[in-house]
Amino acid sequence: MHSHSSRLHDQGDRIGFVPTMGYLHEGHLSLMRQARKDNHVLVVSVFVNPTQFGPNEDYDAYPMDLEKDTSMLREVGCDVLFTPSTEEMYPVRVATTVSVPGLTDRLCGVSRPGHFDGVTTVVNKLFNITRPHRAYFGLKDYQQYRVIKRMVTDLDMDIEIIGLPTVREPDGLAMSSRNAYLSAKERESALSLSRSLEVASEMVASGERNPAAIESRVKELIESQPFLSVDYVSVVDAEELTPIRSLDRPALLALAIHAGGARLVDNIVLCKTD
Ligand code: PAF
Repeated sequence: MHSHSSRLHDQGDRIGFVPTMGYLHEGHLSLMRQARKDNHVLVVSVFVNPTQFGPNEDYDAYPMDLEKDTSMLREVGCDVLFTPSTEEMYPVRVATTVSVPGLTDRLCGVSRPGHFDGVTTVVNKLFNITRPHRAYFGLKDYQQYRVIKRMVTDLDMDIEIIGLPTVREPDGLAMSSRNAYLSAKERESALSLSRSLEVASEMVASGERNPAAIESRVKELIESQPFLSVDYVSVVDAEELTPIRSLDRPALLALAIHAGGARLVDNIVLCKTD
C-alpha cells in the first residue's frame, strides 16, 4: 500500500481516503461518493482497530462482512481497498501514541478512556500508509472529526479533513454499524435520539438559550423510553467541546446512549452561523 501510494503521488494523482471499520452502510458510502468526486483516486481502508476499544467493549463482537463491503465498494467506484491484518498494523507493541488532550477529555472521552488515543494513533498510521490529500469523516462521530482535524493542524499534516453530514434511516435513526446490535424494540426506543435532537432544535428556534434546559428536556425524552440508559447529554461549544453557559454561538448538542448491548451516539449543531 505504501509503495502504491508513493506511485500515485509520483504520477500526480490526488488521493481521497475514507478510513472505516467495515460493515459499510449508506453513511460510509456518502463519504466515498464525495471522495470519488473530489479526487483522482479513492482509497478505502477496512480495519477494526483493537486499540480504540476498551476492555469491556465490543471489539470481539464488532460486525464484519467483507464480501458485502467489497461489492458495495465496487459499486461506489473505490480504486483501492486496504484491509491490513492486526499483525500487519501492530507487528510489535506500539510504543508511540498520538494524543490530543483537552478535546478528548470530554464527552465520549470520559466513558471511553483511551479510545481517542487509539483512533488518532491508527488514523496517523493509516495516513502515513495511504498518503491521502483529503480524508473524509462522518459528522455522526463529531468529536472524532474535531479531534482528527485538531491533530492534523497541530502536527502540520498536509491533509484536508472533510466532515460530512450524518446519514439517517427514513425514520431518523442515524446510520451506524452498531445498529446491527439493536432488537426491534430497542430500535423503536432509539428513535427518541433523533426526535429529541429535533425537539432541541425547535426549542432553540423558539428562543431557548439555556443549555441546561435543553439537556434536561432531551434527557427526559430519552429516559421516558424503555431499554435506554443515558451516558451523557451535553451542550458544548461546537469547536472546543467545552461547556457553555448560553447558546450565544455555534453549539453542539451531543448524546451517547446505551440501548441493550449497543452504545449509540448522535448530535446536532445548534445556533449555526452559516
Ligand atoms: O470512525 C471509525 O470507523 C474509526 O474510528 C476509524 C476512523 C476508521 C479509525 O479506526
